[in-house]
Amino acid sequence: MLAAHSRTIARVALTRATLRPTAAIGVRFSSVWTNVPMGPPDAILGVTEAFKRDTDPRKMNLGVGAYRDDAGKPFVLNCVRKAEDKIMKDLLDKEYAGITGVPEFTKGAAILAYGADSTPLNEGRVAITQTISGTGALRVGGVFLARWFPSSKKIFVPTPTWGNHIPIFKDSGLEVNHYKYFDKKTNGLDFEGMVSDIKSAPKGSIILLHACAHNPTGVDPTPAQWDELSKVVKDAGHFAFFDMAYQGFASGDIHKDAYALRKFVKDGHLVALSQSFAKNMGLYGERTGSFSVVTSSAEEKARVDSQIKIVVRPMYSNPPVNGARIVASVLNTPDLHEQWLKEVKLMADRIITMRTQLKNHLVNDHKSKLNWDHITNQIGMFCFTGLTPEQVGKLTSEHHVYLTKDGRISMAGISSKNVAYLAEAIHAVTK
Ligand code: LMR
Repeated sequence: MLAAHSRTIARVALTRATLRPTAAIGVRFSSVWTNVPMGPPDAILGVTEAFKRDTDPRKMNLGVGAYRDDAGKPFVLNCVRKAEDKIMKDLLDKEYAGITGVPEFTKGAAILAYGADSTPLNEGRVAITQTISGTGALRVGGVFLARWFPSSKKIFVPTPTWGNHIPIFKDSGLEVNHYKYFDKKTNGLDFEGMVSDIKSAPKGSIILLHACAHNPTGVDPTPAQWDELSKVVKDAGHFAFFDMAYQGFASGDIHKDAYALRKFVKDGHLVALSQSFAKNMGLYGERTGSFSVVTSSAEEKARVDSQIKIVVRPMYSNPPVNGARIVASVLNTPDLHEQWLKEVKLMADRIITMRTQLKNHLVNDHKSKLNWDHITNQIGMFCFTGLTPEQVGKLTSEHHVYLTKDGRISMAGISSKNVAYLAEAIHAVTK
């Protein structure tokens, strides 16, 4: 009896104790996070979120740059499926990769970018690390440059550039500046403006160059213009940092798309390079990329390597292995490599066909009075339509077509089934 009584007392005491924090509930609300403001949605990935909320059957997501097949479905390359099968059968372990990743991957990635006949590669002068796709490569590269690039913390990016470049480099500790790139009047390259801004940047600046398929404009310098840019960058004593997120995706030819990078290297530039396998191998979610630096000797390469490891280790220790194993298998197995080249071309060609069809619908079916030549002149995953933010707003609110505010459309999201609808919608908001 006594025991039962004291159990009741204990329960009451416990209830009171549990209630006490509730009584002091105000404490819960005066949180340390009250000063955190709501951030804006991401300019690119936020578009996908808005698209998902739309229930209209005609809706189109032309925001994020992710390839779709002609049925509008995500496309897993056959060479990737075969590589995955092989990896599964090999029953590989799940051990950590080294800090700089899977060696068969980095070796293959470097040959792909610089070419098998690359002098610095064959002399063992290229420091390379696997990264969390292109974003990770730019970030590791940004931090490495902020820490070790001797003459400047200034990086010059084109106007416009991929939206994420700016926060990536700022967060890396670099000071972001801009050079002219896109000419709104022609929807093409402002080559003179670009050259003049690069020339007048302080000597020894870092110049970020999109190696091919410029994002967001789809406007690239010609080979002759790249030759001149190589000279301009060298004469001004600058350092070239290439972002190559679309090798093979621009023209369908991995060598043609590597022209700028290889030309600079041949001209003696000690460049840095960010590579991504998101688009050209369709490995978006596998987050597979690399950052590399061409150095002047094997001994220097070893020192650079050691500092890259010191950048990576506190960030994420070492990269994930699955995507790297897939890429290594595709690049290093002759028949899979062969098949990959065909599949990259297939993707690039489908996009080129969509460009022609979109332009034809606007010009021939709708008799648009505007000039749409830039749709077919531009290259790669994106078309910079020239639509104003108001027109973009209408395209979304009235026609359920989702794109970034700057008027960029991902050509890869267009198919033979919805291209006519898109042309109709663009015509409706531009006529
Ligand atoms: C894009 O520009 O849409 C892609 O590079 C995807 C991304 O992460 O922004």
